[in-house]
Amino acid sequence: MGSVAASKTRVLAVANQKGGVAKTTTVASLGAALAELGHRVLLVDLDPQACLTFSLGIDPEDLELSVHHVLTKGLPASEVVIETDDGVDLLPATIELARAEADLLTRTGREHVVRTALEELAEGGTRYDWVLLDCPPSLGVLTVAALTAADGVLVPLQCETLSHRGVGQLLDTVHDVRRFTNRGLEVWGVLPTLYDGRTNHARAVLDNVAATYRLDVLEPPIPKSIRFAEAPAVGRSILSTSRRHRGADAYRAVAASLTQR
Ligand SMILES: Nc1ncnc2c1ncn2[C@@H]1O[C@H](COP(=O)(O)OP(=O)(O)O)[C@@H](O)[C@H]1O
Ligand SMILES: [Mg+2]
Repeated sequence: MGSVAASKTRVLAVANQKGGVAKTTTVASLGAALAELGHRVLLVDLDPQACLTFSLGIDPEDLELSVHHVLTKGLPASEVVIETDDGVDLLPATIELARAEADLLTRTGREHVVRTALEELAEGGTRYDWVLLDCPPSLGVLTVAALTAADGVLVPLQCETLSHRGVGQLLDTVHDVRRFTNRGLEVWGVLPTLYDGRTNHARAVLDNVAATYRLDVLEPPIPKSIRFAEAPAVGRSILSTSRRHRGADAYRAVAASLTQR
């Protein structure tokens, strides 16, 4: 655990306003992979559906406090963060987060609520090497607040679909965030997910998106596999439920490449 403790915290937002593209799976799996490499990792669930929280074995119904209290009531994140069996810490969400979007809409500084919460956590002495932000499937206040807190954004993309327009909108939002709230935000690239390497179609879609928007493509693609659907049911990521699976190894390889940036 100690080898990387001195480095600066890197905050990565995993965002795409399209649902079902493996944002949450990517956050859980990359988090577990980074933890395997000895990094201290915090995952932040910013989706009111709380899928990340569920998938790490925590029932949101059992939680008194969640990320909603941190973002809208100023509760210190340190009072809400929980350790998980997957070797990462989690700032969990509950359905109450659905109200945060409306609560924050009229608040000064709403774009900065995630950044401020993370800064306060660091100032309180809790150090992480990585903070991964699991964004909701929209480009609303919570996603903008995540992008404002982030050093980089990673865009999971399901290559079967021709969702080019969605990518353009997301990049427009990134540009706005860069202009108004977070000059340093970088797009780290698209991550091909639910990838079916047997078809040329997936590769063609990917090449097209990368060229159209001049985006880097992170390698390797994450293969489509039923194993991914099974892992959340037992509250662990695929890295522990199917340790030697090629899907787990793909996320390990992506995590290793992120640490090289
Ligand atoms: N590589 C994969 N192969 C097969 N199914 C996957 C893969 N990655 C994610 N899934 C499944 O796809 C669904 C959507 O994934 P999720 O991570 O919740 O997406 P999002 O957070 O973008 O909505 C989930 O049921 C998940 O288990
Ligand atoms: Mg999700």
